[in-house]
Amino acid sequence: MAQEKKKYLVTAALPYANGPVHIGHLAGCYLPADVYVRYLKAIGKEVIFICGSDEHGVPITIKAKKEGITPQQVVDKYNGIMKNAFEQFGIDFSYYGRTSSAVHHETAQAFFKNLYDKGVFEEEVTKQYFDVEANQFLADRYITGTCPRCGNTGAYGDQCEKCGTALSPTDLINPKSALSGAVPVLKETKNWFLPMGKIQASEEFSSYIKRFDGWKSNIKGQCNSWLTEGLQSRAMTRDLDWGVPVPVEGAEGKVLYVWFDAPIGYISATKEYFQQNGNTDSMENWWMNEETSLVHFIGKDNIVFHAIIFPMMLMTHGNFILPENVPANEFLNLEGDKISTSRNWAVWLHEYLVDFPKREDELRYVLTSIAPETKDSEFTWKDYQTRVNSELVSIFGNFVNRVLVLCEKYFEGKAPFGAANLPEGNLTEARNLCFNQVAQSINDMEACLEQIKLRDGQSLFMNIARAGNKYLADTEPWKLYKTNPDLVQTILFDALQICAKLAIAAQPFLPHTALKLSQLLGANNLDWQQLKKDIIIEGGTQLGKPEILYKPVDDEDIQKQLLRLSEIKKENTSQPAKSELQEVKANITYEDFDKLDLRVGKVIEAEKVPKADKLLKLIVDLGFEKRTILSGIAEYYQPEELVGKLVTVVANLAPRKIRGIESQGMLLMAGNDFGKLFSVGPEKDIEPGSIVK
Ligand code: MF3
Ligand code: ZN
Repeated sequence: MAQEKKKYLVTAALPYANGPVHIGHLAGCYLPADVYVRYLKAIGKEVIFICGSDEHGVPITIKAKKEGITPQQVVDKYNGIMKNAFEQFGIDFSYYGRTSSAVHHETAQAFFKNLYDKGVFEEEVTKQYFDVEANQFLADRYITGTCPRCGNTGAYGDQCEKCGTALSPTDLINPKSALSGAVPVLKETKNWFLPMGKIQASEEFSSYIKRFDGWKSNIKGQCNSWLTEGLQSRAMTRDLDWGVPVPVEGAEGKVLYVWFDAPIGYISATKEYFQQNGNTDSMENWWMNEETSLVHFIGKDNIVFHAIIFPMMLMTHGNFILPENVPANEFLNLEGDKISTSRNWAVWLHEYLVDFPKREDELRYVLTSIAPETKDSEFTWKDYQTRVNSELVSIFGNFVNRVLVLCEKYFEGKAPFGAANLPEGNLTEARNLCFNQVAQSINDMEACLEQIKLRDGQSLFMNIARAGNKYLADTEPWKLYKTNPDLVQTILFDALQICAKLAIAAQPFLPHTALKLSQLLGANNLDWQQLKKDIIIEGGTQLGKPEILYKPVDDEDIQKQLLRLSEIKKENTSQPAKSELQEVKANITYEDFDKLDLRVGKVIEAEKVPKADKLLKLIVDLGFEKRTILSGIAEYYQPEELVGKLVTVVANLAPRKIRGIESQGMLLMAGNDFGKLFSVGPEKDIEPGSIVK
């Protein structure tokens, strides 16, 4: 793909400016985007790399309420912290914007106005929840309640994070205002909807979605399931006071839906970038140019917005190019648990920088090695230590160090004149093997980078160093020097060329190391083309003083991190967060209770539901019949653990279709909003079908 187009406009999801950045953010989106951008630049493409803070939306206003400051103060605080952390890790944005900027407000408003003037929006009066105490409408996350699907009592108005179901506020059972705790009332309000169903039926959209075929299967799968279910109109305006004001009459007190304004942030940031660079180029020259390949790096929770909604906005506006690819990553877990900002279960980048100074590339390396490219993956400190010590230190660092030390010892710190005057046909077996391995690894690595398979690409990079180490181990120049110094010249000359190739190939993955290594090699202008050359470092070149590239990570460093996490875990479990202590619900009568038909069931089959991380499909024997039941417990139970278990089933729950499968009941589960869920069944063996009362 990178061969086809000249210009690359790469974006990384604008993070909400409501908290610092953690390793999950880095691994999910910013690091892969950066590696890819550095690669594209290295092979000579024209690239701009756009990001910025997403400064609107309910998460920010909620944070402001919690801290007793204004939303503006929240975003001012975190915008700086985030921008700095990205910089330290070498995430090389061309421009990092903010959606609170004047240029952004104008751009987003003009975009909305364009669609509005064309009559694209459906204007509709609907009933929305309103908090009488706080005197405001409650959009999305301002409202919490019980998920109708899984019973999670902390579901939000737009989504249940427990079972993943997309919700609208009126789906919630026992809705509550997140602002005042009051029970909200329904009140009429007018909003503007994007007719997504209509756009889905258009020819332009049908032709656009052909691109999905070339995309990763996790994205394709999610998109296709949205499309098969059929898209509904979605409100592009909200009754809130924080955001970009809706620029039409009759919309006073309303702002643009954050998912309408935020992606336009990519466009406005591009504008600002060129404005600040003396207008030698323009936003239009990139966003409205068929020569540009637009690539959005995101996390999996952003897929529908980037692959469907934003493209729909762009195509109804006209003039804009559509995304060429949307490489979305899955999630990164930490030490066996989901990363969570509210539970402080995270490795924060600003803290890592303090605890592991000047070791940014080490974290980049580990996070790319375990990148959740096709499925969720996990970061553990032990694994971090192992990867740094046995790969970066022992393979890459050690190879480079041995070569430099030997050159210092035998050749006064200069590159020897080696292979240049080596007669043809004098290649030893070890030398041939090494050269072939290096050339093959480089080819394969490039192919991976091209396809954004960065995890494999980095491991092929490491194979170059492995081949170099093997060459030294096979030829043992330190033993040869006394008897055959000429041969040692050749070996070390060769080894230096491999070091130079490592310095070049490290550029996308380990930019700090690449720079340091090229200095150690006395080579300033290494470029990607040279990867294919035999000679990069000429004989006689003055080399730097040998210096190690990576320090081993000590056990104490790791212990300290593990201790910190175990303290957090203790805090989290000993005093469940306030939101976990649920109030007892309003009283019911015995008649209410008696409406429930609870039965003992025996699980006879259990399997994962394809493309649904949380769902298991169970066949449950109720004695008188067998039922298919979908349950959101895939994170807590392996299917085989459940087979044979006695469970309690709500037998008269109205059937519901989920992912095309009819679920004919529900299992009772005990648990909090975090940690494990346990199935609730009879204490002793009893026949399936028995009544629970
Ligand atoms: N702020 C969103 C999030 O963190 C991502 C916004 S991406 C953009 O989930 F396209 F809208 F900018
Ligand atoms: Zn749910």
